Amino acid sequence: MKALIVGGGGREHALAWKLKQDDPALDLLAAPGNPGIAELARCLPIAATDVPALLDLARRERVDLVVVGPEAPLAAGIVDEFRRAGIPIFGPTRAAAEIETSKTFAKELMLRAGIPTARAERYTDVDDAKAAVRRFGAPVVIKASGLAAGKGVVVAGSMEEADTAIEMMLLEGAFGAAGAELLVEEFMEGEELSLFAITDGTRFLTMLPAQDHKRLGDGDRGPNTGGMGAYAPVSIGTPELIDAACSRIIEPTLLAMREHGRPFTGLLYAGLMLTNEGPKVVEFNCRFGDPETEAILPLMRSTLLQPMLAVARGESLAGAPEISWEHGSSVTTVVAAPGYPDHPATGATLSIPAVGSNVHVFHAGTRRETDGRLISAGGRVLAVTAVAGTLDEARERSAAAAAAVLLEGKQLRRDIGWRELARGARAS
Ligand code: AMP
Ligand code: GLY
Repeated sequence: MKALIVGGGGREHALAWKLKQDDPALDLLAAPGNPGIAELARCLPIAATDVPALLDLARRERVDLVVVGPEAPLAAGIVDEFRRAGIPIFGPTRAAAEIETSKTFAKELMLRAGIPTARAERYTDVDDAKAAVRRFGAPVVIKASGLAAGKGVVVAGSMEEADTAIEMMLLEGAFGAAGAELLVEEFMEGEELSLFAITDGTRFLTMLPAQDHKRLGDGDRGPNTGGMGAYAPVSIGTPELIDAACSRIIEPTLLAMREHGRPFTGLLYAGLMLTNEGPKVVEFNCRFGDPETEAILPLMRSTLLQPMLAVARGESLAGAPEISWEHGSSVTTVVAAPGYPDHPATGATLSIPAVGSNVHVFHAGTRRETDGRLISAGGRVLAVTAVAGTLDEARERSAAAAAAVLLEGKQLRRDIGWRELARGARAS
């Protein structure tokens, strides 16, 4: 069996690691991959969005399965192209990926299908948007409609902040075409939860709930980032809550997508807010989350390869066994470059310490120089995951291994999972 992973970050390294766990004989390719993935796969210097070159590669290598990590190739229609060529690929079509790439599409789908989410209105005119903000009251959320690399959301505490965000998006074009239309959205109060479902378009298998840590600093302070760490499982994601999320959110969303003529296959990521009125959707993503994937996959006992292959081949997940999980907890600590998130410094020498068997160092933004040196090549450099019997132990080991990484000026949080620990550590 030969598989190709598209992408080159920490999420793709974790996917590569898991697929090799499932089938050590798997012949794995990655494009472009990274130095960590290179220990498991043959990496080819093809950009994740170069669909024609990827298609050539997959044909030449006769791959049996393609797994797409990031959203950009999905938005570019990679699944449509590969399906046309008859190559099994795991992910949604371009039209189905709009559940992430167009916030207005996602919002209208949810409102029409009665899926719990924040009330929202769409605007292209500055004055209309500002008037809406006054009706909504503060705090209020302003969102660029299109893909803005995770930066198109402003949670405004005041009218002035909301006005500034509106002007930045509609007048100054801060997010280009992605911000030419925006949503004014009701602020939801609560704790966030990431819930992943592997789906054939109708049936689905949910994964352990995880929690991302978007702020740069301990205690959730400082600027927003792509994610400084994650943990799983999350105790407030009780079986009852997950059941409710499945029946009120995942199932009706998949149904609405089918009725829309764009069945969603692959990984549906529901970003949930656990409000007093139950779980509500903050956003959908059309792919695995990063860094949640690096925390979740090391806890997965059953195979990921099998359900992925079934979905990629267009087969039904009916009768597929539920996913089984290891006991214990997992914590991922991201090692970020100095200057991240605004101006990350790259090109610094990097050295990774030896780690124990329950610690995984996933490469997120690294590069190997021709002289063999490992250097930093992105804002998020490594994602260091530890699995342990208790969350606090996992946090401790993950933070210690991340702290032992040699990278000048590195940034990391030492409190991943703090909300859970504050609830009372969950021993298992
Ligand atoms: P998104 O890019 O949609 O995930 O939004 C980024 C972050 O903004 C989310 O993870 C939430 O923390 C926050 N956020 C987005 N929408 C809302 C909302 N309606 N109410 C409260 N917080 C929100
Ligand atoms: N962890 C957030 C995301 O992947 O979008």
